[in-house]
Amino acid sequence: MASPVKKITVIGGTGMLGKPVVRALVRGDYEVTAMVRNLEKAKRTLPDEVKLVSGDLQNRDDIIRALEDAEGVYLNLSTRPETPKYAEFLPERDGVEQVLSVVSEMNSAGAGIRRIGVISSLVHRCADTNRFDWWLFEIKKWAVKALREAQVPVTIFYPSTFMETMDQGGVFQGRRLVLVGKSRQPMHFIAGADYGRMVAEAFRVTGDQNCEFDIQGPEPLTFEEAALTFVKNYRHGPVKISRIPLWLMKAAGIFSNEVQYLARMMEALNSCPEPWSGQEAWNRLGRPKITFAEYVKKL
Ligand SMILES: NC(=O)c1ccc[n+]([C@@H]2O[C@H](COP(=O)([O-])OP(=O)(O)OC[C@H]3O[C@@H](n4cnc5c(N)ncnc54)[C@H](OP(=O)(O)O)[C@@H]3O)[C@@H](O)[C@H]2O)c1
Repeated sequence: MASPVKKITVIGGTGMLGKPVVRALVRGDYEVTAMVRNLEKAKRTLPDEVKLVSGDLQNRDDIIRALEDAEGVYLNLSTRPETPKYAEFLPERDGVEQVLSVVSEMNSAGAGIRRIGVISSLVHRCADTNRFDWWLFEIKKWAVKALREAQVPVTIFYPSTFMETMDQGGVFQGRRLVLVGKSRQPMHFIAGADYGRMVAEAFRVTGDQNCEFDIQGPEPLTFEEAALTFVKNYRHGPVKISRIPLWLMKAAGIFSNEVQYLARMMEALNSCPEPWSGQEAWNRLGRPKITFAEYVKKL
């Protein structure tokens, strides 16, 4: 049987959800390399143990340098809200394609990259289950298909909404939590730290099977319930909740890609049911422990 992966290169490690994964991999005794666009930002935000390689996904040679010596790769890539639909390079599509091609070429030349882990999302399945038509979800679906057909075993993670979204993802502005539309569907919010631990555990899997995990946290909450929990547990002064009607956000979206993206994402999160599907990940990767109240208390 192949020996477990020990050396992992992370691409997107300076991102909101890349940082907790990098920290967990370091704590999990992996040798971690991060390919980053901004070395200064990476030095400020990533643990000292991480080897930093300056690089951009658009440059094949950068990826080759970052993957030299790697046994595993972890991709934390996103499509930023301000990104136009027809952007020439989308990290979640073109970046994934580029990495798959580089890994295949390097392995043919004798490299030993044995697993690629990638963050996707639970909500993008709304495209199929609720016929929610959005170009972003199509890109995520395309990436999943390309990964499943890769020549290297892949692990795809489909997380629910991250707790970090509430304080770092634009919901918390000044002293206000800004909620868009009516949140009807409870989501199993997960903390980045719990997710990071689960990713680190997943890289201990050996063999040539693809693995896919739905990642859900300990308790289902609507955005509304999460906001009330935030207000109750935040220690740094009073927090108010503001509400913006979805129709208003959608109307404003005519003038801005970013607002349009946020309106569409909120529409999906508010309306697509998120049934419980996280048991396999809990059994195999460990149970996430951090509740949203605990997360907020530590801010
Ligand atoms: N928020 C949620 O609740 C949630 C839930 C489930 C799934 N997800 C998914 O999680 C994924 C990651 O989210 P995130 O918030 O961590 O995204 P993010 O903060 O935008 O991070 C993206 C990372 O990719 C890097 N990057 C972008 N373009 C690059 C390029 N050309 N070359 C090299 N690196 C590049 C960025 O580098 P810089 O630091 O230099 O910009 C950054 O480190 C997304 O796909 C999202 O859909 C999110």
